[in-house]
Amino acid sequence: MAKLVLSSCILPVLLLFFISGQMETSRAAYVKTWCIAKPSTSKEALENNLQYACNNINAMDCKAIQEGGPCSKPNDLLLYASFAMNAYYQAKGRHYWNCDFSNSGLISLTDPSYGNCTYEGGETAVDDSNSGKWCVASPSASDDQLHACIEFACGKVDCSIIRSGGACFEPNTVKNRASVAMNLYYHQTGQADMSCDFNGSGNIVRTDPSYGDCKLKSG
Ligand SMILES: *[C@@H]1O[C@H](CO)[C@@H](O)[C@H](O)[C@H]1NC(C)=O
Ligand SMILES: *[C@@H]1O[C@H](CO)[C@@H](O)[C@H](O)[C@H]1NC(C)=O
Repeated sequence: MAKLVLSSCILPVLLLFFISGQMETSRAAYVKTWCIAKPSTSKEALENNLQYACNNINAMDCKAIQEGGPCSKPNDLLLYASFAMNAYYQAKGRHYWNCDFSNSGLISLTDPSYGNCTYEGGETAVDDSNSGKWCVASPSASDDQLHACIEFACGKVDCSIIRSGGACFEPNTVKNRASVAMNLYYHQTGQADMSCDFNGSGNIVRTDPSYGDCKLKSG
């Protein structure tokens, strides 16, 4: 009798541990991640990141962005820095701090590869929930594409923060302004993955791209 009481008490407890354990693991998933530069990063910081990353990995890993390499066009500093920062992040083991770069790197869930330019990506355990996701302009998106994204997003959401006097007006680059507008739209639509597609010019990131007074919302 005592044995029966004991087991009928312990069994539900064990079951509860088992179920909560399952729930715990279902929130982490192994997915590929990449590292890209935060769109608001200054030219000087991008140059530093590019140098630092290429000097601290196998020199071959930065060959793709050199003259004639598959990632040498378009010639854009943010794009070159993103390539190098990703090569560094992958080579060092994809710890979140390998994509920190003094708070100028973003861990991306979207593959930044384009044309014949491949960004190596490897799996990491990430939180599988929808919280902590933002949308930014893909580093390779053209200014024309991004102007279209701004027009599209700002036709649907209030974009006053990227206008003159708004908290996200500076730095006044197309990539930064488009990123803010795209995130406003992405956030408003409940962070559906498709709403950060923007005809292939959006990247979903796991790192908060906010800077200074420009606060960007996630889920
Ligand atoms: C990719 O490489 C192939 C073969 O080298 C070339 O024919 C093609 O034009 C390249 N595509 C792009 C988008 O650069
Ligand atoms: C995506 O492409 C379609 C067709 O070319 C166009 O109508 C639409 O405005 C584009 N959307 C964005 C966000 O650029």
